[in-house]
Amino acid sequence: MKSSREPSAPAGNGASVERAGAPLPSEETTGTTPRRRVSGTRRRLRHPAELPHPPRLPGLGNVHQISLHRLHQNLEDWAHEYGCPYQVHLGPRRFVVFDDPEVTATVLRNRPDGFQRYELIEPIMREMRIAGVFAAEGDEWRAQRRLAMAALSHRNLAAFFGTLHTVSERLLRRWQRAADDDMVLDVQKELMSFTVDVTSSLAFARDSNTLERHDDSIQRHLQQIFGVLTQRLSALVPYWRVLRLPSDRAMDRAQAELSEWLGQVILEARQRLQREPERKLRPQNLLEAMLVTRDERGEPFDETMIRGNMMTMLLAGEDTTANTIAWVIHELLETRKVTQRLQDEVDRVLGSDAIPPDPSAAAELEYAEAVANEALRLRPVVPFASLTAAADTVLQDVVIPRGTHVALLLRATGKNPDFVPEPTRFYPERWLDPEAVASLQRRSIHVPFGSGPRICPGRSLALLEIRMVLGLLYKNFVVERVGRASDVKEHMAFIMGPQNLRIRLRRREQRP
Ligand code: HEM
Repeated sequence: MKSSREPSAPAGNGASVERAGAPLPSEETTGTTPRRRVSGTRRRLRHPAELPHPPRLPGLGNVHQISLHRLHQNLEDWAHEYGCPYQVHLGPRRFVVFDDPEVTATVLRNRPDGFQRYELIEPIMREMRIAGVFAAEGDEWRAQRRLAMAALSHRNLAAFFGTLHTVSERLLRRWQRAADDDMVLDVQKELMSFTVDVTSSLAFARDSNTLERHDDSIQRHLQQIFGVLTQRLSALVPYWRVLRLPSDRAMDRAQAELSEWLGQVILEARQRLQREPERKLRPQNLLEAMLVTRDERGEPFDETMIRGNMMTMLLAGEDTTANTIAWVIHELLETRKVTQRLQDEVDRVLGSDAIPPDPSAAAELEYAEAVANEALRLRPVVPFASLTAAADTVLQDVVIPRGTHVALLLRATGKNPDFVPEPTRFYPERWLDPEAVASLQRRSIHVPFGSGPRICPGRSLALLEIRMVLGLLYKNFVVERVGRASDVKEHMAFIMGPQNLRIRLRRREQRP
């Protein structure tokens, strides 16, 4: 970044952030309103009920004003209207909404003991048989996290590069055919085939090759599951326990088919471990690690947990990366200068290669990563985070009793002019100064991968995939938009992606 201004005044409403997990202040003053000494002055602490809020209806709260697939925008709009922190009600559940980076840092760091994922995530994901490291809390999470970290480690990624290259070659061939046939491409679908193939190869050593088999059933099933998950997380009552809507039944069918596929993959992995017992000492991927590891009690992990984590990896690795690349392509279509600079970098680094040939070539694509960071700032696929306090605490000047739900507006912080100059401009150059980047990350102004002990363990893989795809795309093709930029809408289905983004590819040598 050329220049990064420190916030001129304390962030948010000027109050400081207390340590999460600290005891609540005693009620040392009048009435029931606690006060706490801050910087030599006594400051009145507010209860969440005292915070401003959009008008609400009894029983419903603000549900009637929320659009399920635009929830992030609803929350950001209210932040403009009421100022943060404010409160919003989804039926009986009150959320306190913050857009302050210090609060973000405090909350995300204090996990799993001070804060946990939003309280409905674990039970709903468990019911849907997709509970793994993302949904787990406490000791269960610690054990699963260790395995996920090992599976996605730098060492494993380096060994995986050959497979990633093979999957990238398939994407290149598919797009060459699409260019020759003048096809209109649904960018997200294309990229989801790529990310599913990458994730299943890395995490389960299963080359699903959806790119060349032109079989998008895994992606369709995952989309079905994401859709129902979004619906259930914001439902006022758990209707699905008494009534199956068509979407629930479709999700059941998707689950059953995926479950059969996963069963087959697990069986093959067990047979491989039997045939090659030395792999038990050095498991080669997440699935093998889950099959051979014992938990704290010396017991093997149960099959439900293993399947939950396989689903978690597919879900976590698919939409996030595919949608991020799709947003990059959307933004590049609007900024010719940036596209040109990216293309120059790709031409210089790749030379006569069509795809980054080795990890060091991929690592050299620095501008490509800057472009990705800028897209992640303006169009983060996780624009807000929802958590539940696991202990009494205070955030800014708000008392947060245990069980309070908190929403952190991560994107709003990255678009705040107090922290990022010219925040609405798509300007990747701001990411070329490593110190400025580190400062933005350290101060939790740019946290597209989360932060603290639960920071995304797949971020290095994701950034490598992004460099590979941008490298091959801009080395070999000219990208044209089909339709208008204004038709592209942000669509939230647990992960935020572009709706109506369609493109056509021309081989670069065909350029008029
Ligand atoms: C651009 C792509 C990606 C983005 C923006 C992204 C973002 C995130 C975010 C925001 C979180 C929550 C972090 C927190 O709570 O602090 C997360 C968690 C997670 N991500 Fe990613 N992610 C991406 C790609 C991936 C990939 C490729 C994988 C693996 C194949 C992955 C696996 C996970 C897992 C397992 C978790 C749960 C970690 C835990 O709870 O301990 N992600 N990701």
